[in-house]
Amino acid sequence: MEDVKQAVLDSEPQKIEKVAIPPIARPGDSISAIDTPSLILDLDVFEDNLRTMQVLAERHGVALRPHAKAHKCPEIALRQIALGAVGICCQKVSEAVPFVAAGVRDILISNEIVGSGKLALLARLAKQAHMIVCVDNPKALEALSAMMVEHDANVRVLIELDVGQKRCGVQTPEEAIALVHLIRKLPHVSFAGVQAYHGGIQHKRSWDQRQKAADKTVRQIRQYLDAFYAASIDCAVVSGGGTGTAAFDVASGVFTEIQAGSYAFMDSDYAAIDWGEALSFRHSLFLLGTVMSTPTPDRAVVDLGLKSTSAESGAPQVADREGLRCVGVHDEHSILLASSRRHRPELGTHLRMIPGHCDPTFNLHDCVVAIRGHHVEAIWPISARGLSR
Ligand SMILES: Cc1ncc(COP(=O)(O)O)c(C=O)c1O
Repeated sequence: MEDVKQAVLDSEPQKIEKVAIPPIARPGDSISAIDTPSLILDLDVFEDNLRTMQVLAERHGVALRPHAKAHKCPEIALRQIALGAVGICCQKVSEAVPFVAAGVRDILISNEIVGSGKLALLARLAKQAHMIVCVDNPKALEALSAMMVEHDANVRVLIELDVGQKRCGVQTPEEAIALVHLIRKLPHVSFAGVQAYHGGIQHKRSWDQRQKAADKTVRQIRQYLDAFYAASIDCAVVSGGGTGTAAFDVASGVFTEIQAGSYAFMDSDYAAIDWGEALSFRHSLFLLGTVMSTPTPDRAVVDLGLKSTSAESGAPQVADREGLRCVGVHDEHSILLASSRRHRPELGTHLRMIPGHCDPTFNLHDCVVAIRGHHVEAIWPISARGLSR
C-alpha cells in the first residue's frame, strides 16, 4: 500500500494541499447557510414533544424511558432525562457505549444479548452504569451470569414476553416463572420484571383499532402477572409500549414504564395515524436539501437520496409547500413532481422534507443541526450512528 501511495505522489508534480471539508453548519449561522443534505431538528417543536410525552407519563404515575435507538444522539438523551425520563433504552450493547460515556447512568438494553464479546462489553458498561437487559432463554441467562461473575459486575434482568409481536420473548407464563427461578439461583443477575413490547400495533392507523390491539396486549400481560402473583413472584417493572400506543399504555394499569422513541420527532409514517384528541406531536425532524436541477417545468431534483433518508416507510414528504411531492428516491437524488410550473421550486431553493421513518434516517447522519427560529443553535453528533453490534 505504501508503494502505491508513493507511486501516486511521485506522479504528481505540484505539492498537494490537504483540503478540509467545511462543517455542515456553525452555531449562530442562519438556516440558509446550512449545507445539504443535512438533518435538522426544530428545537422549539422538539422540546414541546418531549414535554407532551413526559407530562402524559407523569400524569399516570408511569415512568418514561425513551428509546434512544430513535435518535442515537447523547445530547438528545440528556435532554429527555433532564425533563424527567428515568433513563433510556438502547437496542444493542454497542449502541449504549456513547450514552454511558456522555453520562447516562440507567440503560435498558431492550433486547436479548447473545455472544461472549457482546456480554463482556455489557459487563464493562455495567461497572459504570445501571444496566438492565432482556432474556428469554435459560442458556443465554447462564452465559450472562457467568460473564458478570467474570467481570465482577451486576445486571438487572427483564424477562421478555412475546405479547403478539412474534419476535423474541417467552411464550408461556410457565417459561417465564422457570426463568425467574433460574435468575434467583444465578449470581450477579437479579430479577427486575418483564418487557412486553408489541411493535406491530404501534402504527395501526385507526385510534379504535390501536386501542383494541393495545387492550389485547394488556390482557396477555395480565396473564403473566397473575401467574407471577400465584407463584409469589414480585414483578416490579413492566416495561414496553411505543409512541403509537403510549396513550393506552399509560392508562392500562399494567405498565410501570413506557419506551416510546419516535414521539420526539414525529416522522411522516407516525403522523399518518389517527391521534384523536389525546396527544399532539408535531414534526421536529427534517431533512434539508437543495434543488440542484430543474430539468422540466414540473420536475425538480433535490440533492438528498437514500444515503440521507430511509424510504422503507415511504418517500420523504416535502414540508411547507403545496403542489409538490416526492415521487422517487435514488441513491443521491430525490425527484419532486410539481402540480404546475408555479409550484416547482427554483434552482438553489432549500427544501425541508419530513423523513418517513426517523430511526434509520438518524443512522445515516454524523450529526443533527439543532435550530431555533431562523438560526442554528448547536450541532449534535449522532454518536451511536452505525453502532448496531
Ligand atoms: C423494544 C422497543 N421499544 C420501544 C420502541 C419505540 O417505539 P417508537 O419509536 O414507535 O416509539 C421500539 C421501536 O422499534 C422497540 O423496538
